[in-house]
Amino acid sequence: SGAGDPNILVLPEHSRTLGKPVATHPYGQPSQYEANLQRRESPGLTRVGAASVSFTPLQGLFGIITPSGLHFERHHQGWHDIDPAKHRFMINGLVNNPKVYTMDDLMRMPSVSRMHFIECGANTAMEWGNVAVPSVQYSHGMLSCSEFTGVPLSVLLEDCGVDKRRAKVVLAEGADGSSMTRTMSLERALDDVIVAWAMNGEMLRPEHGYPLRLVVPGVQGVSWVKWLRRIEVGDQPYATKDEALHYIDAMPDGTFRQYTSIQECKSVITTPSAGQRLQGTGYYNITGLAWSGRGKVKRVDVSVDGGRNWRTARLETPLLSKCLTRFNIDWEWDGTPAVLQSRAIDETGYVQPKINELRAVRGTRSIYHNNAIQSWQVAQSGEVSNVQVY
Ligand code: MTE
Repeated sequence: SGAGDPNILVLPEHSRTLGKPVATHPYGQPSQYEANLQRRESPGLTRVGAASVSFTPLQGLFGIITPSGLHFERHHQGWHDIDPAKHRFMINGLVNNPKVYTMDDLMRMPSVSRMHFIECGANTAMEWGNVAVPSVQYSHGMLSCSEFTGVPLSVLLEDCGVDKRRAKVVLAEGADGSSMTRTMSLERALDDVIVAWAMNGEMLRPEHGYPLRLVVPGVQGVSWVKWLRRIEVGDQPYATKDEALHYIDAMPDGTFRQYTSIQECKSVITTPSAGQRLQGTGYYNITGLAWSGRGKVKRVDVSVDGGRNWRTARLETPLLSKCLTRFNIDWEWDGTPAVLQSRAIDETGYVQPKINELRAVRGTRSIYHNNAIQSWQVAQSGEVSNVQVY
């Protein structure tokens, strides 16, 4: 740019000609220049794509809302586009009036709209033993945040006359072939859980459970049952396959940890992050995301020297409970190697742990619930890479 720059001196075609008409794309699309921003699969992660995961490109996103087309996907047995006119939702078990609802029945009921993050319990799973993946898309991209609209589960349970004297547990079941079921306490079910049909202002996308999914704020993604067809109310733990065999963690003493649910406080710097390259010395805005399954994020500290010194970042509004929070902090890069880290603290006072603190308790053979502080190394060349700092 500057003197003689043809991008300034030569009037471009778009300033001389008529542009494309309205509704060229009746459903809008991103610019052709943003084609690199995509959900991506990790090759070789699973044997079949229908029981796999695609990751959200966190490095290319701004603010806290994930565009619906970039929301990560995790299916146990593929996705279907279900006809909403034929979809039925049933509540049975310890209720006085078991009921079957159509989508029309549900959408007539009083609805709420709330912004929440969803994080797969397996997010950052590859990094328990050592550095394994090349970018924030793969290390933290099983994370998205959207506005969800639906009817509170508490309203539906009241509508069916839940037997509060005997009921203790609620089981949710999906309509896909994986027979996915997850359970939660009645207390949680009556708290902030939503039976949702909309995401980011439109009906759910098929990949995310169209026409109905459970939204369980703060809880690992697997409990957010998609293509939701049934809720059963029971009086004791179900120990379903997805709780007894899957989504359990190998502990250092050889036992397995079961029934984890809450996504603990976590954060990650999204820019600069591994795979990117700094273009010379000078000013950079370090930016990232922080979240907690227990409520609001209270503070995020950022270090550029591998955790020796910390500065407090700016938290951008809105600051919502069980929702992503965007943080920003100024940085002057002097061209010497640096290690960037962020550390989040939530409103309960919980502090995001270092990887060695987490390993001391959990060992190195876990899969789920890795909420360790992430380190990105900036080399003298400006190249940013994934490292682990103890
Ligand atoms: N619900 C059904 N019915 N089938 C599934 O395979 N996958 C679960 C959960 N709900 C799944 C499901 C898992 S493991 C996660 S992490 C989230 O959905 C992912 O939601 P998303 O694909 O909308 O990101």
